[in-house]
Amino acid sequence: MIENMGKGRTWVLSGPESSYALHLTDADELVHLHWGARITAADAEALAAQGPPPYWPFESQLDGREEYPVEGGPRFARPALSVRTEDVRGTEWVFDGWVAEDDELRLRFTDALAGLGLTLHYRMRDDSDVIERWVTVVHEGTGPALELLRADAAAWTLPMRDAWRLSQLHGRWAAESRLVRSALTYGEKIIGSRRGHTGHQHLPWVALDAEGATEERGEVYGCALGWSGSWRISVQQLPDKAVQITGGAGHDDSGLLRLEPGQTYTSPVFAGLWSDGGFGGASRAWHAWQLAHVIPGAQEARPVLYNSWEATGFDISEQQQLALARRAAGIGVELFVVDDAWFGRRTSDRAGLGDWTPNPDRFPDGLAPLAREVHGLGMRFGIWVEPEMVNADSDLYRAHPDWVQHHPGRVRTEFRNQLVLNLAREDVRDHLWEQLDALLSSAPVDYVKWDFNRCFTDAGWPGEPYPQKLWTCHVEGFYALLDRLRAAHPGVAFESCSGGGGRIDLGVLGRTDQVWTSDNTDPLDRLAVQHGFSQLHPARVMAAWVTDSPNVQLNGRRSSLRFRFVSAMAGVLGVGGDLTGWSEAELAEARDWVRLYKEIRPVVQHGELYRLRAPEGGLSAVQYVRGGETVVLALLEAQRYGERPPALRLRGIDPAAAYECLDTGVVHQGGVLLHHGLHTGLKGDLDATVIRLRRM
Ligand code: DGJ
Repeated sequence: MIENMGKGRTWVLSGPESSYALHLTDADELVHLHWGARITAADAEALAAQGPPPYWPFESQLDGREEYPVEGGPRFARPALSVRTEDVRGTEWVFDGWVAEDDELRLRFTDALAGLGLTLHYRMRDDSDVIERWVTVVHEGTGPALELLRADAAAWTLPMRDAWRLSQLHGRWAAESRLVRSALTYGEKIIGSRRGHTGHQHLPWVALDAEGATEERGEVYGCALGWSGSWRISVQQLPDKAVQITGGAGHDDSGLLRLEPGQTYTSPVFAGLWSDGGFGGASRAWHAWQLAHVIPGAQEARPVLYNSWEATGFDISEQQQLALARRAAGIGVELFVVDDAWFGRRTSDRAGLGDWTPNPDRFPDGLAPLAREVHGLGMRFGIWVEPEMVNADSDLYRAHPDWVQHHPGRVRTEFRNQLVLNLAREDVRDHLWEQLDALLSSAPVDYVKWDFNRCFTDAGWPGEPYPQKLWTCHVEGFYALLDRLRAAHPGVAFESCSGGGGRIDLGVLGRTDQVWTSDNTDPLDRLAVQHGFSQLHPARVMAAWVTDSPNVQLNGRRSSLRFRFVSAMAGVLGVGGDLTGWSEAELAEARDWVRLYKEIRPVVQHGELYRLRAPEGGLSAVQYVRGGETVVLALLEAQRYGERPPALRLRGIDPAAAYECLDTGVVHQGGVLLHHGLHTGLKGDLDATVIRLRRM
């Protein structure tokens, strides 16, 4: 809902639980009024009437108050917008009107000297407290080009509090999205990526709380960016303790684009959410919003998949994949994915990337025969691709060495023996479109795992007068290619992967069906990765595989099938072990786990998620609730001193109802489950269980 008042210069956007208010002063300063619990029009007018803070020598009365601080004028805080032309630097805008259309508010400003038209967009939907913000910048003049050094999607202003705490999700390869919290101090805390992709190092999300929010109580502010290239989020605490969070594409202020007259830049969305339900309440609100408005086809359940990577690596053949597929079908897998090595001369990571036609030695009749066999086994068929890359040893690179990002006369860095194509180039995109369209038309492919296995290093674009736009335009090119493929092949599902979780963000989630969370498939390490992931993203997109024990990919840790399955059932279950090495007993056990997962899948993938206990060495547990159905996944890392692990106090339960455990038949009272909890019976090391309850 959008309200306008105060002689038309104050706006309030409201969702189910929260409001957001802003005000335009007589001097056309757009100041922030409120973000938090719902307020009335009278509250907003009272806030607008308060005016600026008292004058303080050497400080700006605008800093920390503006909805979208620009460069120039009496401001010293980090600007969200920085533009220049040959002659003009900075922005002096005048207000040019506003529009409220459905759930979107647009405020327009112009700066005639620079030829700039700027629109701030706000969208708050009726069913969510998430506010989507972005900007569009247009060169409306006739004069010289307008260079966008920086154009953040939004600046978020927090209310004044004594002390803020910052939560972030940091990581690296095979150790993504681990939650850390720290006190926010004066100055600026910057997270981001200068790697060309979202990166394993940080999910583009921050959360701030000031009064010791807990998992289920207290105010939490969160901001998340929808962009899959380099990015920056800055959390700035000013000298008067005001806190502002700016975020957008690009790590530096070194230039996003150069707009010629008539051209427009649209920033990614930087979404914000206030919740009074603690970190858990905030997560559930983020999840619901993504399921309803971001993830395509989110109402459909994701199938149990098998992925061949850990089992067969680069040494694959049609018969060997078929043998795996038969075993996968036998345990109940619904989607069989051939990961890597099916194309070109891809017998190691040194060759083949770029040549997206089946390797004739391995698949003499293409992929169609295997795909049909897989379909005959009752499964869907999927393949792995990495379209943005080439190996130097590929037909594509031999034909088009100029298509990769490079600086003339400089070394072409080969991380993982590969180079990055320049998807900002139309000819490169057209070529990839033809290759991938032909591939998807050549065999009944249902699923594509789209990987990206190295960062940008030599982001040059010889011949392009404004080469730094590559950082922006490559990502837009990637989005455009993916969108085009999705439109042409609507039955094909896509997974975003980047060496595990290196490309997970709201931008890519708007055009993929799930993400590969991490290359770390150790079921214990995974608990922390998944705990962090769930702060922002729903289980419905979080792919998790059961692989071999000892763990092949990372650490050689031994764990039971039970522990591996319960850990992976927290998201979209997959299996990635070498099933040809599994005993009949293991396959039978796996079949039972897959069957159980399919039973709980509606609750896990579409229910509300409660983190009952974080993985901190002892008992951890996640609960999912959908209507009267409850599922608890409980995992014990290590039992200490022979003590019984603590009872799990459940959430989202009706205190007045009774619940039947579907496995034991025992009836539990809702009030007891909520206030005293449920014992899991777990003991020893790496033990795990699934508890299913149904309201009676
Ligand atoms: C990195 C991915 O994260 C893995 O799952 C696998 O697909 C390999 N690439 C294949 O090269």
